[in-house]
Amino acid sequence: MEGERVQGIANFSTETIPEEFIRSTNEQPGLTTVPGTVLDVPVIDLSDPDEKKMLEAIIDASRNWGIFQVVNHGIPDEVIRKLQEVGKGFFELPQEEKELYAKPPGSQSIEGYGTQLQKELQGKKAWVDHLFHRIWPPREINYQFWPKNPPSYREANEEYTKHMHGVVDKLFGCLSVGLGLEGHELKEAVGGENLVYLLKINYYPPCPRPDLALGVPSHTDMSSLTILVPNDVQGLQANRDGHWYDVKYIPNALIIHIGDQVEIASNGMYRSVLHRTTVNKEQTRISWPVFLEPPSDLEVGPHPKLVNEANPPKYKTKKYSEYCYCKLNKIPQ
Ligand code: SIN
Ligand code: FE2
Repeated sequence: MEGERVQGIANFSTETIPEEFIRSTNEQPGLTTVPGTVLDVPVIDLSDPDEKKMLEAIIDASRNWGIFQVVNHGIPDEVIRKLQEVGKGFFELPQEEKELYAKPPGSQSIEGYGTQLQKELQGKKAWVDHLFHRIWPPREINYQFWPKNPPSYREANEEYTKHMHGVVDKLFGCLSVGLGLEGHELKEAVGGENLVYLLKINYYPPCPRPDLALGVPSHTDMSSLTILVPNDVQGLQANRDGHWYDVKYIPNALIIHIGDQVEIASNGMYRSVLHRTTVNKEQTRISWPVFLEPPSDLEVGPHPKLVNEANPPKYKTKKYSEYCYCKLNKIPQ
């Protein structure tokens, strides 16, 4: 087992939290959140009969926000509910059973149950446990990291995955057209049919000092796009003009983050969004982001059709694995 799980720490933290979870004053959500303002990030109806309007809304949100929510996305509410039910069920299993899925020590892959993804600069800890496993394409799946309990875990995850493809293709198609490319070209640039869907479940137990701790600290996603469903506990914050705001929770909406690889492929036309999460005093927050990742050895860089003498590349072209290695180890890109 790699260190202690936050779920265990939360069980005996009633009034205070261990020192290593207390953020410096420039990160503490109690001091750095704009109070009383819920950020109305763009909400886009993916079934809008006015397709031009929808297309323009996606392009505008991806250029100016890097985050938006989609409704009428075609994934049935019941499919989302089941995904959430089995994920919650996994984290409610006895600790010994969860540990069967722990990321093996020294494993190169991110997959498995665990607690901390990367060492933070000031050695602070995040108030969150997680489970990572790939859900697509089938040859990339390691079922050893898919919980056997609840018994319907696999079916619920497969059903959700099946319904995601339509959303993925629609988003990439619109983003591609927004760059002046053919509809298929942006997705192709980040992996096409080999795009890897990596599911993460974030489990944020109740925290007696939500003003001092953070769930996931400030970051942009390394993926191309991230498609996320949260439970109904507030916690996602986005940075806008240098300030942190709560993002409005909308039942059954999907939250879309523009990730670094789409920022890079678009040569900066679309922008990845800086976000973080807060935790709650009484309630457990859970979220299910799916990271749409290029295959690790695929080179991603500004799309050749978007660069010329007047528009030189703003980013280096590099293998996705190398990009992640540099980012996680804080090596300048
Ligand atoms: C994350 O950015 O990894 C988590 C987002 C969330 O929990 O809403
Ligand atoms: Fe994220």
